[in-house]
Amino acid sequence: MSPFKYGCTVSDEFFCPRPELERRLAEHIKSGQHVAVVGPRRTGKSSLVLETVRKAKGVALFHVDFLDVRSRAEMCKRMVTSLSRLESSDSWLSKMMKTLVRLRPTLSIDPQDGSPTVSIDAREAAELGSLDSVLDALVAQTARRRICVVFDEFQDVMDIDDGENALAVLRSRIQLDTNTPYIFLGSVRHRMLDIFLNSRSPFYHGASLFDVGDIAADDFYKFLCGRFTTGRRIFPRESFDAIAAAVRNTPGYIQEVCDALWQASTEGDVLSPGDIERALAVIFAREGEHFSFAVKQLTALQVQVLTTISVRGGREVFSGDFLSAANVKSVASVKRAVTRLIDEGLVYFADGEYKVDNPFFAEWIRRR
Ligand SMILES: Nc1ncnc2c1ncn2[C@@H]1O[C@H](COP(=O)(O)OP(=O)(O)O)[C@@H](O)[C@H]1O
Ligand SMILES: [Mg+2]
Repeated sequence: MSPFKYGCTVSDEFFCPRPELERRLAEHIKSGQHVAVVGPRRTGKSSLVLETVRKAKGVALFHVDFLDVRSRAEMCKRMVTSLSRLESSDSWLSKMMKTLVRLRPTLSIDPQDGSPTVSIDAREAAELGSLDSVLDALVAQTARRRICVVFDEFQDVMDIDDGENALAVLRSRIQLDTNTPYIFLGSVRHRMLDIFLNSRSPFYHGASLFDVGDIAADDFYKFLCGRFTTGRRIFPRESFDAIAAAVRNTPGYIQEVCDALWQASTEGDVLSPGDIERALAVIFAREGEHFSFAVKQLTALQVQVLTTISVRGGREVFSGDFLSAANVKSVASVKRAVTRLIDEGLVYFADGEYKVDNPFFAEWIRRR
C-alpha cells in the first residue's frame, strides 16, 4: 500500500509535523481567539487545523466543510451532520433529535462509514430560521464544553442565495459565543479577504488572519524520505527539489508525484530526477480523462487563453504580446475568457499573475 496520501486531509503518520504553526494555532484555540486561515488549495490548511485540534487536550472538534454548498438548507444539513459527530453515544443522538425537533430530524446510517447520523427534513431546512435553530443547538453545546468550531471553505457561503444574510446570522451568534474558538478556512484568497477585511461585511475584523505558507523544505524532505523508506526506496534530495519547483511547493501535489513515483518503482530503487517523467505518465494516465473533459467544456477561445497562460505564464494577459500569442483580437475577449476560467476553478489570480490551479493540468496542456 502506498505510504502517500493526497486529495484528502492527512493525520498521524501521514502528517508532516509543522511545530511552529501548530504551536501558534494551539495558542489561539486555547485563548478562544477566532482565526481565518487563508491559502491556496492543497497547501495543508485543513490538515493542520484538524491535527492541531485533535492534539489539543479536552477540546472537541466541530468541523463543517462548505465546499460547493448551494443553499442555506444544505448549509444547515451539513452542520447538523457535524453536530451528530460531536459524540457517538446513543444518548447524544437522541438528545439532538429532541433539540432539533422543529426541523423534523431523522436518524440514518451514513452510507460511507456506517456511523449513525442525524439528518433534517429538506423542506424544514429551507425555512427561514432553520440556520438560527441549528446555531442555537451548536451554541448550547459550546456553552457546556470546550469545542473548537471549524468552518472549512468558508468563502463558499457567499455563493448561496442571500449568502450575505447567512453570514450576518452566523456573525450575530458567534459574537455572543465569546469563549469558543472559531476557525474559518478558505482557499479563495480575494473572497476570504472580502469577508474579513471589507468594512461592509458582517465579518469585518471578525477573525485574525493566519498564513500557513509552505512546509519547511528540509522537514518535508525528511518526512517523505521516511515514507519512501517504508518500501525501501531511496529518494535523493535533488529529486525532491525538482518536484517541489515543478508544483510551486504545494504539499498535496508533491505527495501526488511521490505516490506516482512509488507506483512506478520497486524496492531498492533510487528515485532520481529522471524518474519524475515516469511519475508524470502515471498521473496523466489517471487524470487525462478529467483533463480532456475540462477542456471540452470550454470554447476555442478560452482554450487558447488557457494554453497561452500554461505555456508563457499569466502575467500581463491584456498586453499586445499576450493577445497575439493567444491569437485573440480584443482585451474584452481575454477578460471574458479569464473570468470563465476562474469560475471553473481552472485558473486563479495571485501575486499579479494568473496561474493554472493544477500544475499537472498545465503540463498536460503544454504537451498537447
Ligand atoms: N502536514 C502535512 N504533511 C504531509 N502532507 C500534507 C500536509 N499538509 C498537506 N499535505 C498534503 O496536501 C494534501 C491536501 O491537504 P489539505 O489539508 O486538504 O489542504 P487544504 O485544506 O489546504 O486544501 C494532503 O492530502 C497531503 O497530500
Ligand atoms: Mg481544505
